[in-house]
Amino acid sequence: MSKINILAIESSCDETSAAVCSGGKILSNRIATQAVHAEHGGVVPELASRAHMQHIVPVVDVALKQSGLLLEDMDAIAFTQAPGLIGSLLVGGQFAKSLSLALDKPLIAVNHMQAHVLANLIPDDKPSFPFLCLTVSGGHTQIVKCVSPTQLEIIGETIDDAAGEAFDKAAKMLGLPYPGGPLVDKHAKEGNPDRFQFPEPKIPGYNFSFSGLKTAILYFLRNAGTAQVYKEAFAATEGERQRFIDENLKDICASIQSRIISILLNKLSKAAKDLEIKDLCIAGGVSANSGLRKAFKEMGEQKGWNTFIPDFQYCTDNAGMIAITGYYKYLENDFADLSVPSLARGF
Ligand code: KG4
Ligand code: ZN
Repeated sequence: MSKINILAIESSCDETSAAVCSGGKILSNRIATQAVHAEHGGVVPELASRAHMQHIVPVVDVALKQSGLLLEDMDAIAFTQAPGLIGSLLVGGQFAKSLSLALDKPLIAVNHMQAHVLANLIPDDKPSFPFLCLTVSGGHTQIVKCVSPTQLEIIGETIDDAAGEAFDKAAKMLGLPYPGGPLVDKHAKEGNPDRFQFPEPKIPGYNFSFSGLKTAILYFLRNAGTAQVYKEAFAATEGERQRFIDENLKDICASIQSRIISILLNKLSKAAKDLEIKDLCIAGGVSANSGLRKAFKEMGEQKGWNTFIPDFQYCTDNAGMIAITGYYKYLENDFADLSVPSLARGF
């Protein structure tokens, strides 16, 4: 049998992406990032939908050209069905449905969170089933037990903010532009992670919470620049606070990042120990964080666990992960019809 070729489209948030996968290998993965949101301090849904409409044809075109294959070589069209911004999802969904109809090729509806996990199946060196995946993105923080590519069970998740949100909100409080996660990462590289202590929440089981950390950072900065950092009795003036941030930005970023990482890895480590699973993965936008990648690898070396991290381009939103998920769904004949709805929530 010839190799199965999948064209995949991702449009759940603010990246328009298209990828081509052949026999489980990614041939191309093109991503158009929407710059339009930076000046608004966050993703503006209406602007995102419009930008997807502008980007989708050229991005698909370039992904196909780079793959060396033609539209008619495709065996199926995969797209992100859920979760995400509904207007954004609809653009990719309608585009995929139109292609499927015009080419008379099957349609595959993919869950974005499952796809983040399965990004770990893209490289040749893959985890063995069952494995655990810590999926950390702007909207989700989950520990997922993966029994097979299509049998995934969430065993823990955040009860409030996602890890990416914690990064982005901390960055915003520090006056850094959106999306702040990568900037916190950049400054943290040169900072002292032990300089400031932020609390680790005590949440039962494998669940996470980041809202206490957010409040702690808020109070920390409110009192920053006075001798009373962390004590509510004093409040710094705007000027004092800004000076304190300017002088200590690297150490603040390193200390916040280090706490987010320990919250994440302590729970993953507990789950791995309890369930006796030795193959561990990370996925999602926050898995691009250099501190998390390093600490995750070190944890694996210390405990004798096998650790897997997707290539950088498959960590943040991308269609490569939709293509690989589409491939495994194709193998199970898991196709959708044209009436399949895009859903803001799901998984
Ligand atoms: O998976 P993703 O691209 O989109 C969602 O599905 O949410 O994740 C985006 C999140 C944002 O919160 C962004 O700040 C965070 O991932 N992020 C990072 C880094 N790169 C992206 N957070 C920390 N360090 C990074 N290097
Ligand atoms: Zn994502």
